[in-house]
Amino acid sequence: ELVATEFCEAGVGYTQCGASPYSSSKILIKGGTVVNAHHQEIADVYVEDGIIAAVKPNIKVGDEVTVLDATGKFVMPGGIDPHTHLAMNFMATETLDDFFSGQAAALAGGTTMHIDFVIPVQGSLSSGFEAYVEKAKKSCMDYGFHMAITKWDETVSREMEIMVKEKGINSFKFFLAYKGALMVNDELLLEGLKKCKSLGALAMVHAENGDAVFEGQKRMIELGITGPEGHALSRPPVLEGEATARAIRLAGFVNTPLYIVHVMSIDAMDEIANARKAGQRVIGEPVVSGLVLDDSGLFVMSPPIRTSGHGKALQGGLSTGILQLVGTDHCAFNSTQKALGIDDFRKIPNGVNGIEERMHLVWDTMVESGQISVTDYVRITSTECARIFNIYPRKGAILVGSDADIIILNPNSSFGISATSHHSRSDTNVFDGRRGKGKVEVTISRGRVVWENDQLNVAPGSGKYIEMPPYGYLFDGIDKVDSNYLSSLRAPVKRSKATS
Ligand code: URP
Ligand code: ZN
Ligand code: ZN
Ligand code: ZN
Repeated sequence: ELVATEFCEAGVGYTQCGASPYSSSKILIKGGTVVNAHHQEIADVYVEDGIIAAVKPNIKVGDEVTVLDATGKFVMPGGIDPHTHLAMNFMATETLDDFFSGQAAALAGGTTMHIDFVIPVQGSLSSGFEAYVEKAKKSCMDYGFHMAITKWDETVSREMEIMVKEKGINSFKFFLAYKGALMVNDELLLEGLKKCKSLGALAMVHAENGDAVFEGQKRMIELGITGPEGHALSRPPVLEGEATARAIRLAGFVNTPLYIVHVMSIDAMDEIANARKAGQRVIGEPVVSGLVLDDSGLFVMSPPIRTSGHGKALQGGLSTGILQLVGTDHCAFNSTQKALGIDDFRKIPNGVNGIEERMHLVWDTMVESGQISVTDYVRITSTECARIFNIYPRKGAILVGSDADIIILNPNSSFGISATSHHSRSDTNVFDGRRGKGKVEVTISRGRVVWENDQLNVAPGSGKYIEMPPYGYLFDGIDKVDSNYLSSLRAPVKRSKATS
């Protein structure tokens, strides 16, 4: 068995180590308010061998059990971040946080699982998958994979099937932006949507019109606007609204569910709201940067961070159910990497942090402000993600038999964010200086206390890959809609008097 000092040497140098992560396999969390998406109650939670073994009042245990007092605190499922980019090769560089540092940061902020995007290697899905299996070997918490589709041919189509049937991937992302790099055209998107549907895999889109963004960028350069302010100006909300509408309509045409990643504008949210009102299965994922920041910080990510009215509207979308869950799009670069675009905003690597901050900022912004209930908080930070990606109730719940991924949040304590004290490797933090109410005091990952007293106790290699099976709940009934449609086409055509 490894001892703590070996973890330090195997790690990246900053991670504080305490006792061996394997020292106690039995934990009792006493007297807290246990919150699930459907219900909350005061109860004890007993954990054995990484699994939740009991949830009820007044559990009695022996001396060998580690007891954590949660009186006056919330005991909730650990956060699941549906959208991260750890160790991703992107825009002539690589994101700074890898599967160890990014996950350590996540755990320090109460997130116990994330789903990262595998980027194919020269269009090859299997090569991309292998590369990410390597990257993820240093994981210290559980993770899953989405996969990007960046080109189309018979091999890609066949490999999608392998990914779903053999590799535990149930979602594919299509980029409608990043012209000349990751962008796909409508023909490819249609092929991809059809293939996703046939596999019971969820199609995800980055919705911005890449051709128009390219035009917008030229416009800015011609006007002599080369600084970071040119980024948001070159790709206004209308281009996000257009691509969101197009993707929604094409998914409706194919009759397959659709997941819109990083919804950043009212324009995009309105399209999602209209589609949902019409009964279409469309999921909208805002990210924490888009909810709480405004464009005055000149933080470059895509779609861009908008003026503050958009963030406020997205918060409203979350509280009313137009949007269903919150991600981060954690894609960290340091100031040297960001400086690649010092003379030309088009070369600034796109992306901001958030994996460590999401749980705190969503609590403060949404719960502390009174916009949502604590049960809704659990739903939008954890449970809904687990349901959509078909790993509920193993993840996303405090139920007997679920994985013991648990946080204890003290609503009367406060958090502060700074680039000097955070656990990301970056020297910058887009939320630097923010403070708020509510603090994740304890994080338990698979039954191990990995965050307590502001100390991380994590081991590279302890995280596990979570396979995500196809045909999640969003696919229920899709076949019935299809067969009703087909029988309506086959039915004798009725002509009205006016047209006959
Ligand atoms: O700016 C962003 N969002 N960077 C990460 C890649 C993506 O589009 O999700
Ligand atoms: Zn140490
Ligand atoms: Zn994207
Ligand atoms: Zn992303």
